[in-house]
Amino acid sequence: MKKVTIHAPATVANLVCGFDVLGMALNDPQDIMQLSLSDEPGIRIRHTDGFNLPVEPANNVSGAGLLALLAEYPDKTIGFDLVTEKCIKPGSGLGSSAASSAGAVVAANILLNNHFSKADLVKFAMNGEKLASGVKHADNIAPCIYGGVTLIRSIFPLDIVQLSAPPMFVTVVHPQIEVKTSDARQILRKEVLLKDAIRQWGNIAGLVAGFMKNDYDLISRSLEDVIIEPVRSILIPGFDEVKKNSREAGALGGGISGSGPSIFMLSREEKTAKSIESLMQDVFTRLGIDFKTYTTTLNNEGVKITEQE
Ligand code: HSE
Repeated sequence: MKKVTIHAPATVANLVCGFDVLGMALNDPQDIMQLSLSDEPGIRIRHTDGFNLPVEPANNVSGAGLLALLAEYPDKTIGFDLVTEKCIKPGSGLGSSAASSAGAVVAANILLNNHFSKADLVKFAMNGEKLASGVKHADNIAPCIYGGVTLIRSIFPLDIVQLSAPPMFVTVVHPQIEVKTSDARQILRKEVLLKDAIRQWGNIAGLVAGFMKNDYDLISRSLEDVIIEPVRSILIPGFDEVKKNSREAGALGGGISGSGPSIFMLSREEKTAKSIESLMQDVFTRLGIDFKTYTTTLNNEGVKITEQE
């Protein structure tokens, strides 16, 4: 096989209480990437979208992942040509950089006859996250590659746990303002109070148990963040209103998607998810801030091959 086209899904990192350790993949939006194996060493990158992202491999998140993969591949005579159409807007909080780096390394591995394991691919793709946010974290990369909901029990060494989850609808609003992940990390306090830590790990354990037991009430009670959200939410106009109105409309709960500015809400029923989408639209229309909304579902397959030759 010489050429492969893949779709790489958006992801919601943190899932409210699980900062840097929980994430889920979504069915919409998804990036489209076409990767070709070449007998010319090196990586050549082209974009067909209007985002003007860097194309120099070392400065490009897909390139950073592919460079890490090639460094561990024994045949040094090969290279790649990558064409990307980004549908997940960079800086949205929907795992745009993760989709770029995870999509590229998964596609490369297909062309290399699955030489590497999924855990290897997560490790390579984290180089893209390091480039984008200054820190290696896997809570977008892992769900993007594995699909569904993932727990990153540890990064060094890598320990990824796939969690089952009941069917859920996900509503997302992406206000068109920029929040850089590096800035959203910088403002966090480096220490937490023990009483807050106890509440937070109770919620993380509750959320994981709720997913595994298909217990929607437990999921709903556990979607609470007493550490990160109070600090970061001030960067997102309309956050408190969206959250309050969504809960009143029947959302299980939700919060900041990744480092923001997107906000996500989980619902049991599609009807509820749709009514949350329209209340999100009302809030941002009233605030005079451009936005994009999605009502989607959990993506259980992760990066998917759509064409190969
Ligand atoms: N866990 C990361 C953060 C995700 O919240 O900073 C960034 O997309």
